[in-house]
Amino acid sequence: MKFLSLAALSASIAACVSAITIAEINGNRFISPYKGQTVTGVQGLVTAKGPNGFWIRSTTPDTDDVTSESIYVYGRAGLPNATVGNVVSLNGRVTEYRSTSTYLYLTEIDTPKNITTLSTGNTVTPLQLGQQSLISTLLGKTSLNPPTQQYTSLDNGDVFGLPGNTSLVSVANPVLQPKQYGLDFWESINGELVTIKNPSAISRPNTYGETWVIGGNWIVTGKNSRGSLTATPRDGNPEGIIIGDPLDGTDNPKDVKLGDQLADITGIVTYTYGFYYVLPTTKITITTPKQPEFPPPTRLTSSGRCSGITIGQYNVENLSPQSALLDDIAQQIVTYLKTPDLLFVQEIQDDNGATNNGVVNANVTLSTLTAAINAAGSKVNYSYVDIDPVNNQDGGQPGGNIRVAYLYNPAVIRPHNPNPGSSTDANEVLPGPELKYNPGRIDPANPAWVDSRKPLAAAWETLDGKNKFFTVNVHWIAKLGGSSIQGDARPPTNGGVDERHLQAQVTGNFIAQILAQDRNAAVIAAGDYNEFSWVEPLQTFASVSGLKDLDDATLTPPLERYTYTFGANTEQLDHMYVSPKVALLLPQFEHVHVSSWVTDADVVSDHDPSVAKLNVCAGLL
Ligand SMILES: *[C@@H]1O[C@H](CO)[C@@H](O)[C@H](O)[C@H]1NC(C)=O
Ligand SMILES: *[C@@H]1O[C@H](CO)[C@@H](O)[C@H](O)[C@H]1NC(C)=O
Ligand SMILES: *[C@@H]1O[C@H](CO)[C@@H](O)[C@H](O)[C@H]1NC(C)=O
Ligand SMILES: *[C@@H]1O[C@H](CO)[C@@H](O)[C@H](O)[C@H]1NC(C)=O
Ligand SMILES: *[C@@H]1O[C@H](CO)[C@@H](O)[C@H](O)[C@H]1NC(C)=O
Repeated sequence: MKFLSLAALSASIAACVSAITIAEINGNRFISPYKGQTVTGVQGLVTAKGPNGFWIRSTTPDTDDVTSESIYVYGRAGLPNATVGNVVSLNGRVTEYRSTSTYLYLTEIDTPKNITTLSTGNTVTPLQLGQQSLISTLLGKTSLNPPTQQYTSLDNGDVFGLPGNTSLVSVANPVLQPKQYGLDFWESINGELVTIKNPSAISRPNTYGETWVIGGNWIVTGKNSRGSLTATPRDGNPEGIIIGDPLDGTDNPKDVKLGDQLADITGIVTYTYGFYYVLPTTKITITTPKQPEFPPPTRLTSSGRCSGITIGQYNVENLSPQSALLDDIAQQIVTYLKTPDLLFVQEIQDDNGATNNGVVNANVTLSTLTAAINAAGSKVNYSYVDIDPVNNQDGGQPGGNIRVAYLYNPAVIRPHNPNPGSSTDANEVLPGPELKYNPGRIDPANPAWVDSRKPLAAAWETLDGKNKFFTVNVHWIAKLGGSSIQGDARPPTNGGVDERHLQAQVTGNFIAQILAQDRNAAVIAAGDYNEFSWVEPLQTFASVSGLKDLDDATLTPPLERYTYTFGANTEQLDHMYVSPKVALLLPQFEHVHVSSWVTDADVVSDHDPSVAKLNVCAGLL
């Protein structure tokens, strides 16, 4: 990395030429060629100090953009001898450090000794990330715009590709290609003091007050209309960077929300907790909060007839009668979802929540929810159906017994020939098509569902009995156990993907049996699939079931398809799939971003709900 301040240059000429430069220590790969070796006379300008060490930038930079000119000097013993603006010389040991075996290594110099001040009062100029101004470009400054799609050369062109963990960065140790790959880019400026101009938040902060951002002068891909970056096929948005704990001991604000404009951020690039970070010199500040604070409610309201049935879906995050946010969930169903005729909910806990005592009934949870919906001013007085799981066999919080359930408006639809199955009864598609159990769980003994929620298949009809439609409510196994998108394993491991792939086949086969009997059947499968539409489980599900992705059928712009925020990405885990006939009859679909957009204090669930308006009338085709 070319970088030269005149003051630092004169200082370095005045001092003796160092034996080894910072660029040589960092090298042009992830792992230092000097790993484990003791180095002497390393010279650099102190650019910043943290609680446990300081950062120095070379006074003798090379001409190679790939080798970082800065490095972390770890060890509190060195702090008294390091003052920002001083050029120092030091000895120490080159170390590759990581706290967890699945992370990347951070190259650092530890046990610093003989820290000697060579000059004082030098100007410390941060590198400016993003596109340079025209004048700077004419003066020969290269742009420092993070790559926008791929993470490493080891991902075979697809950071979401399977199988994961076919190679490790720490073993392959590829030559950095900072113009192509995000991790290579951040590694090539690791340890640098940088400025992010006109940043905006692309997430809300985590519990540590750490927020993901992009710069205002960066070229980015995936930017949605709210201002965050949506994950799309082969584009995992490596340009997003997380802003960590301020170096001066101040605390970042907790009320940042996605899309907020922030004041310029200056800080140090590092790698920690499984991600590249910028550690700001001081706390971030909001300059212009994103407006409006809350999303608009859905525009989709029921017509009360088979041609305009509304269907909602919402993962209500471990809802129990004890949930502090139960009334808020109810209020959202009334205000934001406009009380759809049929609501697929996931993560309904049993009547005593996470108390692990054998209780599996959820009728108190569900009746508390429907009463709260009434209390929130609903004109719809919901009824509900669910099937209890076998105690502690469906994953989630121990004792919580989360399950999927349906709320329905009995003034518009009713279960068709109700005949609820037991926890262990396997639903079947009978001639008709009819369901053996209504509702009934799909193949609950199948090993695909170990420690996971069984899908709930149901059949419904309008009150005249003339229009029947089928539904499958899913909550596939979570991505738990995956590796960091910025971790050592490449491509990253997609936690639970093998289980989800089996679940896709079992769920898909069941639906295919309905469509095999009646290719014009109205079928809706919705819920928390815990997967992106372009990854194998959902590709398999679509092809096996014969259903269509409702976002495709309704031409939802790809960047507006999100129901969840994770790391740098807004992403879609919750989907609705419909049978070909329903897809043809001018369906409508909206994602309601009551979770993604709001501050931590306003979060009611970690997922956004969605609402569809569908034609389920019989005999139209
Ligand atoms: C800090 O400077 C003092 C005085 O020059 C020196 O004795 C000491 O060894 C230095 N400490 C380190 C860690 O280099
Ligand atoms: C300590 O650093 C000074 C300045 O670079 C150098 O002259 C001296 O030889 C170093 N001493 C040791 C023991 O490395
Ligand atoms: C990746 O595979 C290596 C062995 O090839 C293993 O040591 C490591 O734990 C795996 N990492 C992840 C995240 O699965
Ligand atoms: C829940 O179900 C149990 C047993 O089926 C029944 O005794 C109880 O009255 C129900 N409670 C509510 C609130 O519906
Ligand atoms: C809702 O319906 C239930 C069952 O039909 C009934 O007992 C209850 O009074 C109704 N509540 C309201 C607010 O209409």
